[in-house]
Amino acid sequence: MGSIYDHSEIYDLMEDENRYNAYKKHWEHLFEGRTIKTMLDISIGSGSVTLPVLDLGMSLCGSDLSENMLKSCEKKISDKGFSAELKIADFRDLSCWGGRKFDVVASTGNALAYVSNDDVRHVLEEMDKHVEKGGYIYIDTRNWDKILKERNRFYLYDPFFVNGDRVNFLQVWDYNPDGSMTFNLLYTFEKDLKIYKKEKFEEHYNPLPKSLILDKLSALGYTDIHLFGFPSYAPKRPFEDTEWYTILAKKN
Ligand SMILES: C[S@@+](CC[C@H](N)C(=O)[O-])C[C@H]1O[C@@H](n2cnc3c(N)ncnc32)[C@H](O)[C@@H]1O
Repeated sequence: MGSIYDHSEIYDLMEDENRYNAYKKHWEHLFEGRTIKTMLDISIGSGSVTLPVLDLGMSLCGSDLSENMLKSCEKKISDKGFSAELKIADFRDLSCWGGRKFDVVASTGNALAYVSNDDVRHVLEEMDKHVEKGGYIYIDTRNWDKILKERNRFYLYDPFFVNGDRVNFLQVWDYNPDGSMTFNLLYTFEKDLKIYKKEKFEEHYNPLPKSLILDKLSALGYTDIHLFGFPSYAPKRPFEDTEWYTILAKKN
């Protein structure tokens, strides 16, 4: 079974104008009252979460492991009449960005859990190298603490429609004996009440505790650390009930 990122056209099916506007509102809310003009996203993928910052007048650079996702990102950027610098890179080594510094260095879309917990500590050091003094590290991620506590196996999305066809999307989560997790992504495509196509993908994760991120950011000297829901403007809920959350931490 392959990775969904080799099929950005399927990954992006859920994206529409409403989601774009929701992400735009997310960034507006998060950056309000903060001086942020430049951003590097180290897991930009096809850009669905990040590209609205271009509408906010920010300059954007992005890297990702998947060439395919970056191609889709590039197309979306040029379709909107914007430009951004994109590079293929594993976020465990950000040397492709040289000594450049940004107001925000972000990892969007639950990407850090793709690498081991030890590697995440190293990635945060790599991110820190590229943050301007007074700038920020941004992370949005699934709430892995909640996932491990509840051990649910099934995560269902609302069906959605693409050109009149109904798309059903279900994730089945395996809890592996070594502590890692496998997300099985199951898509069915339906027309006239008949399924005409099925797609399956497998993604491997290493559950990432919130405490690891917060401890490492503190060790790196970040003191002003804020936790939001995702999107950031969502009504505040207890952390245990939050499915996905955002961290914004300021570098002293
Ligand atoms: C769920 S997608 C999120 C993409 C995008 N940020 C978004 O929110 O739509 C996760 C992304 O992480 C990328 N990724 C996974 N492991 C990576 C690594 N070691 N270095 C860089 N990118 C990685 C994948 O290629 C994929 O594009």
